[in-house]
Amino acid sequence: MTFNKELHEYVNSIIDKKQVDVKGKDNVFYSRLMSNIDTIDHLYREIYGHGQFADEKYNELIVTLIEAHQKRENDLRDRDEEKIEKGNWFLSNEITGMSLYVDRFCENLKSLPEKLTYFENLGVNFLHLMPIFESPAGESDGGYAVSNFRKIDSRFGNIEDLISLRKRMQKKDMYLMIDIVLNHTSHHHEWAQKAKSGEKKYQDYYYMYDDRWIPNQYDDKMPDIFPESSPGNFTYIEDCNKWVMTVFHNYQWDLNYRNPDVFCEMLENILFYANIGVDILRIDAPAFIWKETGTTCQNLPQAHTLLRLIKQCVLVSAPGMALLGEAIVAPKDIMKYFGTGAFTAKECDVAYNATHMALQWDMLASGDTKVMLAAQHEILQKPYGTTWINYTRCHDDIGLGYDDYMIEQAGRNPYEHRKFLKDYYAGAIWNSPAKGALFSSNPKTGDARISGSLASLCGLEKALDEKNEYQVDLSIKKILLMQAHSFFLGGIPIIFYGDEVGYTNDYSYLNDEGKSYDNRWMHRPIIDWEKNKKITDPHSIESIIFNATKKLISIRKQHFLVGDHKNLTWLTPHNHQIAGYLRTYDDKKLYCLFNFSNQSAYLTWYAFKEHGSFKPKLYDYWKEKEYTIGLDNDYLIIEPYGFHLLEPRD
Ligand code: GLC
Repeated sequence: MTFNKELHEYVNSIIDKKQVDVKGKDNVFYSRLMSNIDTIDHLYREIYGHGQFADEKYNELIVTLIEAHQKRENDLRDRDEEKIEKGNWFLSNEITGMSLYVDRFCENLKSLPEKLTYFENLGVNFLHLMPIFESPAGESDGGYAVSNFRKIDSRFGNIEDLISLRKRMQKKDMYLMIDIVLNHTSHHHEWAQKAKSGEKKYQDYYYMYDDRWIPNQYDDKMPDIFPESSPGNFTYIEDCNKWVMTVFHNYQWDLNYRNPDVFCEMLENILFYANIGVDILRIDAPAFIWKETGTTCQNLPQAHTLLRLIKQCVLVSAPGMALLGEAIVAPKDIMKYFGTGAFTAKECDVAYNATHMALQWDMLASGDTKVMLAAQHEILQKPYGTTWINYTRCHDDIGLGYDDYMIEQAGRNPYEHRKFLKDYYAGAIWNSPAKGALFSSNPKTGDARISGSLASLCGLEKALDEKNEYQVDLSIKKILLMQAHSFFLGGIPIIFYGDEVGYTNDYSYLNDEGKSYDNRWMHRPIIDWEKNKKITDPHSIESIIFNATKKLISIRKQHFLVGDHKNLTWLTPHNHQIAGYLRTYDDKKLYCLFNFSNQSAYLTWYAFKEHGSFKPKLYDYWKEKEYTIGLDNDYLIIEPYGFHLLEPRD
């Protein structure tokens, strides 16, 4: 960006008015602002241009940045400095997360601090609290329909409870993530209410139309996100006799980011969350924030410009807060959320490794790694300085959104292969051990996603129902295989709450009117602490899964090389049942090998001789056992659904 004297003078004039202590305590902030202002200006103008209205809002934006800094507490400013010093702190192998619904986990925010020892025991030091801001019961989409971005829903507690939790967590070196639901608000939000009552200013906060003329043009190319429960992308609002865009549920109104008022208001909310002390802000559904007729209204270039603008603003006022872009889209498109061109690694710092997550389920059902491997040249494009959330399950469904060509390269027919996977996990194949369900089946396109908990999809529920001990053991092996595979890939592993003790599906959502239309609730358990207490009974399933998960986390923490240093190599597929990757750093190596099939897998010892300097022995951190590397025509034998974490040794 070139130096723009006029712009700098303009900003300085605002700085003077806001009494920023440029030479004293605000000096570092001031230099951050001045060094980023040209980029902020450029990005802002790209979207909002130069009109009188746009200029006025631009002034407001700069004031917002200054005020957010002024409100930032000293402990958070210190934490910012520490993180800056560490550099890309979120790449670390020492962070392991858990995602949870506060009410379903422990009722409310006040009782969450009591559970911190539970997380410590497991090794989890990063919490993603599912949405806790006000959201109307019954029309909440699990909290993703927000009616007040500043008020915690009374079910969970209040803002003081959240801040006090954050402080307790911080003392224990734990990190906090919450969501900003950027794409839409609840129809109960004040803006939507005013729009309904006819206020033009707030109608412009949304995509609202008098008739179906423009909505029809949008609908022509926009896919249905929830085709079963909420088909179409517009909802008729009787109160004001208009159509409003509702891409997700009909109670979630899409915000109109063409309007700079919307951007500025949401930026204030983002910085408000930053000043609560959030370490990573999960930007919900960023792929959808810009709409254009004649397109699918996903992943549009303007959405990226807006995210870059947000990133720059956060860098100035709250540099310690990283951004996670929840873009669950095609592999090539996910990558773009890390930024491209001059903005490479300057957009979202973190994204969900949704492609790899789904591919793990592909491997588990098929016992074959070919499709997963065909996708890796895309996944490995991630720029240095950014990272993944690696996971096996989250609160959402599993979408098989990887490209057809990846399936074709593996020698399979994409339609048949996806059908097999859906049938397998929905339990529609007679001998499938999985118990899940199809989510959002679209009869027009034949698409469907998959719901079900980690344990149920791995066969534990069916095995328990059938009292089949052999299958119970096998399902536990699969659960651990899935977790281990994602823990060592590099990135932040996030465990979905309940999976650490093997919760199976919960069907109680069917009796709740506000949830029964959405089978994702089957894998969002209500924690029964009597069950979780069984982690102290060494023979219980809970204890076996918990302690194994704990061991995996602790192995991860011991090895700097499993952080995300762009240091992962996929091993030559000597055997397609085995997903094998090598992590290296300096002269250190860790071979991570996972047998995804129900047969023993044979791996030639040659696999350990292909990567430079050779050491004769391998120490397995998982099995706590040493192996001697044998002849090339001899093998390491990996049991069905078994895995090894092997370090070469002399
Ligand atoms: C995200 C959330 C999902 C929600 C949707 C709409 O994808 O993860 O649960 O339904 O956004 O807000």
